[in-house]
Amino acid sequence: ETVNEDALEPRAPVVTIMGHVDHGKTTLLDYLRKTNVTEGEAGGITQHIGAYQARLDGRLITFLDTPGHAAFSEMRARGANVTDITVLVVAADDGVQPQTIEAINHAKAAGTPVIVAVNKIDKEGANPDQVMNQLMAYDLVPEEYGGSTIFVKISAKQGQNIDQLLEMILLEADVLELKADPTQPGRGSVIEARLDKGRGPVSTVLVQQGTLHIGDPVVVGNTYGRIRTMQNEKGEDLKEAKPATPVQITGLNAVPSAGDRFVVMADEKSARAAGEEREKRAREEVRNAGSVVTLDTLFNTMAEKAMKTVPVIVKADVQGSVEALAGALKKIEVEGVKVDVVHAAVGAINESDVSLAGASGAIIIGFNVRPTPFAKNQAQTDKIDMRFYNVIYDAIDDVTDAMKGQLE
Ligand code: GTP
Ligand code: NA
Ligand code: MG
Repeated sequence: ETVNEDALEPRAPVVTIMGHVDHGKTTLLDYLRKTNVTEGEAGGITQHIGAYQARLDGRLITFLDTPGHAAFSEMRARGANVTDITVLVVAADDGVQPQTIEAINHAKAAGTPVIVAVNKIDKEGANPDQVMNQLMAYDLVPEEYGGSTIFVKISAKQGQNIDQLLEMILLEADVLELKADPTQPGRGSVIEARLDKGRGPVSTVLVQQGTLHIGDPVVVGNTYGRIRTMQNEKGEDLKEAKPATPVQITGLNAVPSAGDRFVVMADEKSARAAGEEREKRAREEVRNAGSVVTLDTLFNTMAEKAMKTVPVIVKADVQGSVEALAGALKKIEVEGVKVDVVHAAVGAINESDVSLAGASGAIIIGFNVRPTPFAKNQAQTDKIDMRFYNVIYDAIDDVTDAMKGQLE
């Protein structure tokens, strides 16, 4: 991809907020959303789209309203480096906690600068200085102690010093000299996506380069389509979206995954071809990697991957059978490898069971139940192994034999 220096323009920073449970991430985002997003638009309904922009002195800041550390790293693992700056929220009355450290590690791995928001300073017992001292052990050293990390003491609940936090984000953004070329075809990443009954696949995407327009043919991960509607977080229709703008789009043939990359193509035909090609390739990769575990391949996979547990999903017709089967499976142990019942419930094998199997690599065991037609199709497509039994001991024996490499 060639860069045209002359066409580069400054863009808004993209910020992810992370921190320990209950330290105030959502409260901070809620405060920003209320005061900075709908400002001057009394009655304007702010809808949740997983990302939105706040404004200070006419400058925009894009906040990703998603993650949780796992989602953050999952997206990075898929090549979607969307975050420029991490805001680490630490409650002043609780100090550094395990997920604070986790967040620091995720931010370090991503190479993003960290701004610390020491929150809840309005509370009795708040000790912001102690938070600053604790964080020095993690190389987050405030300027007053000779370091370079920006700390802002805030109350997300009362809105104290929030403008100062935004100012600091913009200051950090200036250092990063964030630029993008809006003249290119749009490209970026999926922040979140879901299936809407009326509108079909609805995705929040972040435009990272170029400009995305209504009607643009796009390939998004393994999905494709033409941008049918495009809205901002206020639900306003947009004709185009420039770099660092989060938008909600419709018009794709299927639901993409968070972290999928999107690219505008020359025409719909090539978007479709690219989408189908990618889907085919993804399937082949799964097949070639042998990452789909079946009872038939279980023993070899166990050896190859040095598995500690064999994931299994149990569905049965009545609760008593669910418990008996899950209980017996959990007792199986073959050379230190045990069965992990990732999900066990009453009822037919449904779409959600198959998705879970896909995500966890589990084998599905049905006792006196069958899959729904949709689940059956999806399991075939995803090559999920489903086994059906009406004698509990047969199920136990098959799993045990498969783990020993003795399946008939
Ligand atoms: P998780 O999403 O569960 O990880 O939590 P969170 O980090 O999003 O915390 P959340 O915003 O839900 O806040 C947790 C609690 O702390 C809520 O009861 C908030 O009202 C309270 N809280 C958040 N910020 C402040 C603050 O600045 N001052 C005070 N007094 N309470 C706050
Ligand atoms: Na909470
Ligand atoms: Mg929260």
